[in-house]
Amino acid sequence: MTTVSWAAWRRHFEDNARRPMPPPPPVDAIAPRWRPALIHSLARFQVGEAGEGRIAHQIDRARLDGVDADYRAALKLFVREEGRHARILAGAVRALGGQILRGHWSERLFVRGRRLAGVRLKLLALLAAEVVGIEFYRRAACRLPPGELRAQLEEIHADEAMHLEFHVDFFRVHLRGPGQRLCFAIGWWLVAGVASTLVVLDHGATLRALGVPTHDFARGLLARVASTARAALEPDHALAVTRRAGQGPTTILRDAA
Ligand SMILES: [Fe+2]
Ligand SMILES: [Fe+2]
Repeated sequence: MTTVSWAAWRRHFEDNARRPMPPPPPVDAIAPRWRPALIHSLARFQVGEAGEGRIAHQIDRARLDGVDADYRAALKLFVREEGRHARILAGAVRALGGQILRGHWSERLFVRGRRLAGVRLKLLALLAAEVVGIEFYRRAACRLPPGELRAQLEEIHADEAMHLEFHVDFFRVHLRGPGQRLCFAIGWWLVAGVASTLVVLDHGATLRALGVPTHDFARGLLARVASTARAALEPDHALAVTRRAGQGPTTILRDAA
């Protein structure tokens, strides 16, 4: 049985919420030939980051094992943090000379799928969104020259890594019994498989333009999907995410009995 201190997660998100918003980044150091690709991808991720609001309301009505008022508060703060990412990405897209999208087919598909689903499946979809976001932001940030845009993508990547841990913690405490675990494993590979395929199709060209081969990106995604499944199903399995020094709850209690 795994127990998690949702109060520690709540404090983590409360601390993060106190960060000032960074100004739009100067992009003089970004090669002009990279800008259209970056605009394409960052504008699409911006739409996705802005679209998480409904779960914050639904969580109050949902009856879920293993969560409490601190979890519900933390989930609402998580949604606000995704809104911060949307605002940062909007600043980056405009700084690069692009425009914000009103919507995008992949985001509409994601939202429509989540609306058909219950809260658990929505949280599974959010977990998949973290995995693809982490891999994309990490790959893109690594290729950029040092500067504000890179630092902002690194900050978003670090936040997403913590979001992944937060959602994994939910499934660690929520999944009880072999039936639930089997359902999770099947659902996870289906949802994460679709999300990974879509992100490779939609953003592979951007990463290729930045010098990241598509097969490297796809392999990294697959490893992350597998690692996340193991982390949710095997409490002793640590996630392969990069955590910033000093970031994240240090008082989370994991008691694998
Ligand atoms: Fe995000
Ligand atoms: Fe996230």
